[in-house]
Amino acid sequence: MQGTLRGGSGPGLCAVGRWTLLVCSFFLASALGQMNFTGDQVLRVLAKNDKQLSLLRDLEGLKPLKVDFWRGPARPSLPVDMRVPYSELKDVKEYLESHGLAYSIMIKDIQVLLDQEREAMAKSRRLERSTSSFSYSSYHTLEEIYSWIDSFVTEHANIVSKIQIGQSFENRSILVLKFSTGGFQRQAIWIDTGIHSREWITHATGIWTADKIVSEYGKDCILTNILDTMDIFLEIVSNPDGFAFTHSMNRLWRKNKSSRPGVACIGVDLNRNWKSGFGGNGSNDNPCSETYHGPYPHSEPEVSAIVKFITDHRNIKALISIHSYSQMLMYPYGYSLEPVSSKEELCNLSKSAAQALYKVHGMQYTYGSISTTLYMASGVTVDWAYDSGIKYSFSFELRDTGQYGFLLPATQIIPTAQETWMAIRTIMIHTLNHPY
Ligand SMILES: *[C@@H]1O[C@H](CO)[C@@H](O)[C@H](O)[C@H]1NC(C)=O
Ligand SMILES: *[C@@H]1O[C@H](CO)[C@@H](O)[C@H](O)[C@H]1NC(C)=O
Ligand SMILES: *[C@@H]1O[C@H](CO)[C@@H](O)[C@H](O)[C@H]1NC(C)=O
Ligand SMILES: *[C@@H]1O[C@H](CO)[C@@H](O)[C@H](O)[C@H]1NC(C)=O
Ligand SMILES: *[C@@H]1O[C@H](CO)[C@@H](O)[C@H](O)[C@H]1NC(C)=O
Ligand SMILES: [Zn+2]
Repeated sequence: MQGTLRGGSGPGLCAVGRWTLLVCSFFLASALGQMNFTGDQVLRVLAKNDKQLSLLRDLEGLKPLKVDFWRGPARPSLPVDMRVPYSELKDVKEYLESHGLAYSIMIKDIQVLLDQEREAMAKSRRLERSTSSFSYSSYHTLEEIYSWIDSFVTEHANIVSKIQIGQSFENRSILVLKFSTGGFQRQAIWIDTGIHSREWITHATGIWTADKIVSEYGKDCILTNILDTMDIFLEIVSNPDGFAFTHSMNRLWRKNKSSRPGVACIGVDLNRNWKSGFGGNGSNDNPCSETYHGPYPHSEPEVSAIVKFITDHRNIKALISIHSYSQMLMYPYGYSLEPVSSKEELCNLSKSAAQALYKVHGMQYTYGSISTTLYMASGVTVDWAYDSGIKYSFSFELRDTGQYGFLLPATQIIPTAQETWMAIRTIMIHTLNHPY
């Protein structure tokens, strides 16, 4: 069953004219059950100590859908952001107050931001159609991205090709762009975006980055050196089913869409499904949790496709996995507090990358290992990569620090991508200059 109730108002659904299209998308949005977040708020709580943190953790277990953590309880120095459905607001606020947990309202009404986002997309789509051009400063649906990929690959066939590495649970293609100037099984850099489907800024950054790579080759001598020696693989939509679902039904969906007989809740957290530390602290064996790790390591086709591709390739030297939000650059481990053997080098490199990023628009990123910077998280991509011999394994959390969270306005796509590029470039050049 494809999640094609509405296809996210993609092209071809109401192909009569753009006004009809608009009317159709609007009508379908309300008629076919796109989730309505009117009155839902995002609350930020600053826990004072571990006891308060565990009171917050208890909220997740109280009843399904009581809260949706955007930044989960980690350590007292880090804020906890949670979306609270309108129907639960009164209860949750009472709970916080009765336990002396101070909170502030980060987003007063989520639906207002969602409406603005949808309106901006519709406006941009009209412009794209009338000018037959792709806008790198807008968000796009899966269909739009896949069709952009096809024309991008055709236009730059000398340097880019498209590889299908697998199929999702709902049978969508899992696509990777390969940037290469020749050679066979060269050393390579892997970049993925969008493992968590609601982190739209990451897909948009991936698209901009692809265009940057082709337009800078031959101009930027650092990138040119990199591509003359190494290949770059870029997976933009790493969770296609989840992403399609964020457009058609629920903008805030994080997991994939897998289901199993006898299990009520849908989806696995694809960033808890990897083999390293699988099932450990910071993952959840309750299928209804947002951090459910799945039944066994690499159970999800979206994860196993990457594992197979990278393992078969045998020459991936750096892996960069891109998430949002929080403005962080991190290296392994997530599953353990033990430092990795290359800690000093990875820490130095994170620092240089964060500095390069800062110079572009003055955005501050914190850096360090996942478990000490963010929280314990087991079964994550970069731990698996590192344990599989990919020394330069990094995970980003892009903009912002919570003002918009996952609903970052499209006006921030290009600045985010520009600054992230400088950090990625720093990691790539270091990888090139430090062969192993
Ligand atoms: C969402 O719910 C609110 C309040 O229940 C309602 O006023 C609004 O019309 C709904 N919006 C859509 C698109 O269904
Ligand atoms: C995916 O395709 C396979 C083989 O064609 C089919 O058996 C399966 O039911 C499909 N799954 C979904 C979710 O559509
Ligand atoms: C989601 O996870 C399940 C395992 O729980 C997997 O079988 C399925 O293919 C995944 N679906 C998607 C869309 O990733
Ligand atoms: C998980 O966390 C608990 C409590 O903090 C700790 O005692 C335990 O050693 C941790 N397990 C692992 C595998 O790190
Ligand atoms: C890390 O940076 C420090 C300070 O600049 C330097 O002394 C050290 O040699 C670097 N370590 C590695 C492994 O690059
Ligand atoms: Zn994420």
